[in-house]
Amino acid sequence: MTRPVRPRPLPRRPAAPARATDLLGLAGLPADDIRGYLTAARSLSTEGVKPVLAGKVIANVFLEDSTRTRTSFGIAARRLGAHVVDLIGASSSVNKGETLIDTARNIEAMGVGGIIVRASQSGAAALMAAAIDVPVINAGDGRHEHPTQGLLDLFTIAQCHGRMRHFDLGGLTVAIVGDLSASRVARSDIAGLTALGARVVCIGPPPMAPAGLASLGDGTNVSIERDLDRVLPRVDAVIMLRIQFERAGESKPAAGAPLVARAPGIASIREYRERYGLSSARAAQMKPSAVVLHPGPINRGIELDESVADGPRSVILRQVTNGVLVRMAVLSRLCGGQ
Ligand code: NCD
Repeated sequence: MTRPVRPRPLPRRPAAPARATDLLGLAGLPADDIRGYLTAARSLSTEGVKPVLAGKVIANVFLEDSTRTRTSFGIAARRLGAHVVDLIGASSSVNKGETLIDTARNIEAMGVGGIIVRASQSGAAALMAAAIDVPVINAGDGRHEHPTQGLLDLFTIAQCHGRMRHFDLGGLTVAIVGDLSASRVARSDIAGLTALGARVVCIGPPPMAPAGLASLGDGTNVSIERDLDRVLPRVDAVIMLRIQFERAGESKPAAGAPLVARAPGIASIREYRERYGLSSARAAQMKPSAVVLHPGPINRGIELDESVADGPRSVILRQVTNGVLVRMAVLSRLCGGQ
């Protein structure tokens, strides 16, 4: 009798080890590294800024729309003394078929001290980092990660809850509400929050908050809920997300198609707003100390009412201010050797 032949496993190509000189995501980053960035950002706010990037050129490569993040990185790099070169989607050759890797190699060949990249492909930043020696900072790659947004959210939550000494978020519960499946911000937030000890509750309709998101935690610290009203009274912070209409499908909707035709798996914007929008009545159920965050841009009147976005619980502009500090901390460490 012949023994059954066991298929031999395919040789595995080892994944390229993440380089300490890049920031591609928060998932898998040791909590000490995350705390290192946050502590450095705190020191920048209290001890002032040294021109650690003087004489360096930083390339801000934005192959997808952005106002806030690009400007924030630009200001952060300039405050550290760098020259900043902006390469914006429409004017770059990526649209002419030049690959991301070629673009990265060309920019490297011009002698830059760091590349900040935003692109619509998940994994774009890692692809560039693997091809060049210059530090790469991910400013948002498709649905994957947006690590500096994650860091600024952590910083802001720590600041609001008096946790800036050790950046330990143990005992805090943070809700992330809305279109998590399309959100790179949600993925970075979940990784960062759980690394620092917080619990995360993901809330949204099943297509936007699928049950599988729980697997991003350790089995105890990430949960999925459908009922916002049940969760709100016990959270310490809520991060509201935009419906990412532009990521809803591969094919472009017909011009003039109603917004809902482009939203993934929801019956109507009105119904979405009723179930998942943060109205002032809902915000009133929150603990007195609980705060409201949003990465922007806000779809006012959909996920967030005007009165909440501009109300006393909102720390949305504080997030923007902290974003510059956090990006300075990241640039100093990765491109300035600090
Ligand atoms: C986010 C992004 O682009 O990922 N915004 C941001 O960086 N400030 C979230 C979003 O677009 O909704």
